[in-house]
Amino acid sequence: MTELTHPLATVPRDQLVARAEADPHRPRFHFVSPAGWLNDPNGVSQWNGTYHLFYQYNPEGAFHHRILWGHATSPDLVNWTDQRVALVPSEGPDADGCWSGVMVDDGGTPTLVYSGRHGASELPCVAVGSPDLLSWTKAPENPVIPAPPAGVDITAYRDHCVWREGPRWRQLVGSGIRGRGGTAFLYESADLRRWDYIGPLFIGDASSGDPAATDWQGTMWECVDLFRAGGGALGDHMPAAGTDVGTDVLVFSAWHDGDTRHPLYWTGRYAGDSYSPRDLHRLDYGGRYFYAPQSFADGAGRRVMFGWLQEGRSEAAMVEAGWSGVMSLPRVATLDAGGDLAFAPVPEVALLRRDHVRIGPRAIAGCEVLSGVSGNQLDLELELELEPGSVFRLGVLGAGVTGSGANFGGGAAEETVIEVVRPAGQPAASAAVTSGDSCLRLDRSRSSLDPSVDADEKSGPVNLPGGRLHLRVLVDRSALEVFANGKPLTVRAYPTLGGEAVRLSADGTVRLLRLDAWRMEGVFGGPRPLFP
Ligand code: FRU
Repeated sequence: MTELTHPLATVPRDQLVARAEADPHRPRFHFVSPAGWLNDPNGVSQWNGTYHLFYQYNPEGAFHHRILWGHATSPDLVNWTDQRVALVPSEGPDADGCWSGVMVDDGGTPTLVYSGRHGASELPCVAVGSPDLLSWTKAPENPVIPAPPAGVDITAYRDHCVWREGPRWRQLVGSGIRGRGGTAFLYESADLRRWDYIGPLFIGDASSGDPAATDWQGTMWECVDLFRAGGGALGDHMPAAGTDVGTDVLVFSAWHDGDTRHPLYWTGRYAGDSYSPRDLHRLDYGGRYFYAPQSFADGAGRRVMFGWLQEGRSEAAMVEAGWSGVMSLPRVATLDAGGDLAFAPVPEVALLRRDHVRIGPRAIAGCEVLSGVSGNQLDLELELELEPGSVFRLGVLGAGVTGSGANFGGGAAEETVIEVVRPAGQPAASAAVTSGDSCLRLDRSRSSLDPSVDADEKSGPVNLPGGRLHLRVLVDRSALEVFANGKPLTVRAYPTLGGEAVRLSADGTVRLLRLDAWRMEGVFGGPRPLFP
């Protein structure tokens, strides 16, 4: 059979890696594919101590087409080694792509459950790994579920969450019911090969809320991920005396008609064959810039999550650059005091820190360019105290900036600005302040002189108990991950001037208790093989 070349495959394959490596926007300490296209994290896991990250990969170019599974391993979640490509489409149910899925331990046998794409539909498939997880054999039974549930008018059907519950396996497949909303279909199996359909775990409501809103539920749920946070295991309702029963978190990526909207999660209770939701939450205030997350419990019992940082530039610009898509830094999810999730990059990220600089404690007056802290690969950690009616701003990737004492808004040719607002009228001393009005904003209106890149503002509420703010900002060229008191906001920015300045400013009274800054080391030595 002759391979038809995709119309977007305009960069010769043997030039893709060099193109990608030469792009100043390419992150250096986030995981990226050798070149070409990357999307969702898949099969995230720890096996015999080694971390495994599989990912949706198209080495043909920086566009989504005929996806295979790339694979990388790590001893520490930050330094990655490329491994042989794990799954490649072949004749049969995955002829048109090996779409997203997970890895489970089937009694000592590493096993992948993924969506085989054939024509315009996807069906569940299984592949079994060699003991070193480097060779994968597709199950002869594929597709292991021959069709979506009969008699249900679905919007789509793909992606998997698989777990062991007592003697049996359970599986969720993401979907949506036309005219109603997103859902996850629940199945059960003794052997991962023959599955009994149980029913929808829970059906969302696409008609509630504004379809333009940042928490709209979508008409299909991609990449559903169900886990117990804060104690016990899924399905465990009788925890040992004195231990917490935890919260069951159902993560999904809201999708509508080809549009990847944003990741959301329900908190609630999974019991028997259904899920009783309590609250719906935004998972990352960057919306589509942290999409299709997948998580796993590592050997230390941590809930570690990866997400796909989509691009904010045009299809043509991606193709030209020779690469597209960034994997987030792994982040740990914990339950906060209010019963929501809080996130922080895994502590191992600190392994990449170099050249420590500490500033503070001191007040922030007006606007100042930091001396001794600059760069486009940075880890910044700040402890702040905001009085009511104050605004704190941190500018990164700044070019042509001045610290005139005047405020932000002028004085920069390019700059990406992180802003935290504490409205007036909150008692500064109260540790119980949980105002929904305090907010984190990311202003990209001056991030780039290139008018074709996305410059939308992103924002969301943060709690500032007693005015205290812990702000963590990771800058990796075009990839930015911000954590404000555990609330993440992830975006992409594409400055054209190569700016590296960092600025601070305050309106009202803001005390800088401490600012720690590090330059971050890159994690890849040099050019990587396109098709490991
Ligand atoms: C999410 C997604 C999944 C699908 C995969 C295809 O980004 O659309 O639903 O399995 O990507 O690459």
